[in-house]
Amino acid sequence: MIRACVIGWPISHSRSPLIHGYWLKQHRIDGSYIRQPVETADLPAFIRNLALQGYAGCNVTIPHKESVFGLVKPADETTERLGAVNTVFLRDGKTWGTNTDGEGFINSLREAQPGLALSALRAVVLGAGGAALAIVNALLENGASEIAVVNRTVEKAHILRERLGAKVKPVAWDKMAEQLAECGLLVNTTSLGMKGQPALEISLDGLSGTAVVADIVYTPLRTPLLLEAAARGNPTVEGLGMLLHQAVRGFSLWFGVTPAVTQALHDLVARDIDPEYRR
Ligand code: ATR
Repeated sequence: MIRACVIGWPISHSRSPLIHGYWLKQHRIDGSYIRQPVETADLPAFIRNLALQGYAGCNVTIPHKESVFGLVKPADETTERLGAVNTVFLRDGKTWGTNTDGEGFINSLREAQPGLALSALRAVVLGAGGAALAIVNALLENGASEIAVVNRTVEKAHILRERLGAKVKPVAWDKMAEQLAECGLLVNTTSLGMKGQPALEISLDGLSGTAVVADIVYTPLRTPLLLEAAARGNPTVEGLGMLLHQAVRGFSLWFGVTPAVTQALHDLVARDIDPEYRR
């Protein structure tokens, strides 16, 4: 029996058990994947004792991604650059950490909009938190030429530029509109538009008609931003895709099978988020 889990505080809303449970059943693997609430004070001991507790590894979510980075060996350069870990696994008696958020976003984007060329892309990213860092880094790794990072606290966008280089252009929140004309991809990485959070109030008037609009918020599945973009004819990418795709590599590392993100899995999780969901 191979065991894995997702740790966070709180953790009760995580959909990861639904995703990994689906793949375990599909591949008839003798394994389990559960939610494991871990408080900040207990985090070092939990990670240290992962093997003793019978775990092959775990996912890490809010608020532990940065703390776990300091408790494991970074498995790759991307993780090193991000300073944040969302996937922990055991190999050769060591505890390794990696970050699959960036590839989750890119693979979701590729799946939903296969025609979008990432090389020489100009993107506008709203937000400068942990999710923005992973996404901006992944877009740059895939050849993007310029990324305007628009943030309420513009200093955080400047920090992102210091970490990721001069292709990152910090932009104040009230200067967002000027960035939209030339952009091929607009991504919301803030929590605005999420159920229970304030609305994301932006005008898409200046946005090119061919720009792809992506949101990482997936409650609701179709955010007001995505609905507005679709209404004016822009191609869109829903946030649920990133959640599904970021899960792939962890499953493969722990259970030894690389699973597929299928329409059936998508619909299962979409119905869990919104019982009224129709394709
Ligand atoms: P995550 O890890 O999900 O990216 P985070 O690091 O807390 O979460 O980042 C949240 C992002 O949403 C930040 O860019 C934040 O802007 P600030 O840096 O100015 O705090 C943005 N955000 C949250 N609430 C916001 C609001 N009401 N208006 C504008 N931006 C907001």
